[in-house]
Amino acid sequence: MDVEKLEQEAAKALEQAGSLEEIEELRVRFLGRSSELKLALREVRDRESGISLNALRQSLEAAFEQRRSALEQVELQHKLMAERIDVTLPGERFSEGHLHLIEVEDIFLGLGYMIVDGREVETTRYNFDGLNMPPWHPTRSPGHSLFLADQVLLRTETSPSQIRVMEAQKPPVYMISPGRVYRRDTPDATHSPVFHQVEGLAVDRGISLADLKGTLLHLMRALFGEKREVRFRTHFFPFTEPSIEPDVSCHMCDGAGCPVCKHSGWIEMGGSGIVDPNVLEFVGYDPEEVSGFAFGLGLERIALLRHRVPDIRLLWENDLRFSRQF
Ligand code: DAH
Repeated sequence: MDVEKLEQEAAKALEQAGSLEEIEELRVRFLGRSSELKLALREVRDRESGISLNALRQSLEAAFEQRRSALEQVELQHKLMAERIDVTLPGERFSEGHLHLIEVEDIFLGLGYMIVDGREVETTRYNFDGLNMPPWHPTRSPGHSLFLADQVLLRTETSPSQIRVMEAQKPPVYMISPGRVYRRDTPDATHSPVFHQVEGLAVDRGISLADLKGTLLHLMRALFGEKREVRFRTHFFPFTEPSIEPDVSCHMCDGAGCPVCKHSGWIEMGGSGIVDPNVLEFVGYDPEEVSGFAFGLGLERIALLRHRVPDIRLLWENDLRFSRQF
């Protein structure tokens, strides 16, 4: 066997090999179990040819290894180039589910209200103190609300945006503030630990319950049809006096009674009332000069009622077969 010739042949073939597969093929051909070299090694009888054949084997193995790692580098470079991510490209847009929030906004824009973004992370000052909630109020407990620090929590209602708006400007105020709120609730068909509310606030000279009723009536007719009526039941909220729970006549049965309104003809909408003088004083308004009404409505509830969705969790599951219907 011609050691030199074989070595040259292998070197030439290696040089021409352009891929890892080709190198593997050549390795089998020159160094495989039935290669000329391996067969010759098996036949060796004298020390001298043993030494020279082994030297050839070693140098071939080294040459293959070198070429293989060089090619691996090249292939890696190609891959990196081809799969490079351009972080400056605009991201893919997700289409989000929506709760017809915009519609509520449009209705109030039409009444001359401004739309305000509140904060989802609030301090106890805005979430409780400013809203006239006493130190012992149950929602101040970590068992009810999600605290991030001693005096910082995920807002439990959109009402803190009332305080922020009034602190930032003089009356009159006409604003709504929609957004997410958080409570330590276990999810079921009608509860979610995260949900949306829309807060409303009007402060001006001579604002009364009649203005509140007219405004809610306008909203309900826009959302549920021209024939809707609104009624008030008395209630209690720390930040309103008097406090009122408004009902809307059932849009499914026109008030006759059906499963949607639990056979009462009326559906509860949320909370509202005349802004408590303590709240006006907290933000530096003069309760002798101005008065206001406020309300807070659950948006998921409106969406469920309007679209006859049986379970609030459907709104959060992001199943496109559900979301795309709206
Ligand atoms: N913040 C109340 C809640 O989450 C709802 C509410 C009641 C808001 C009365 C108001 C209001 O603005 O005046 O239960």
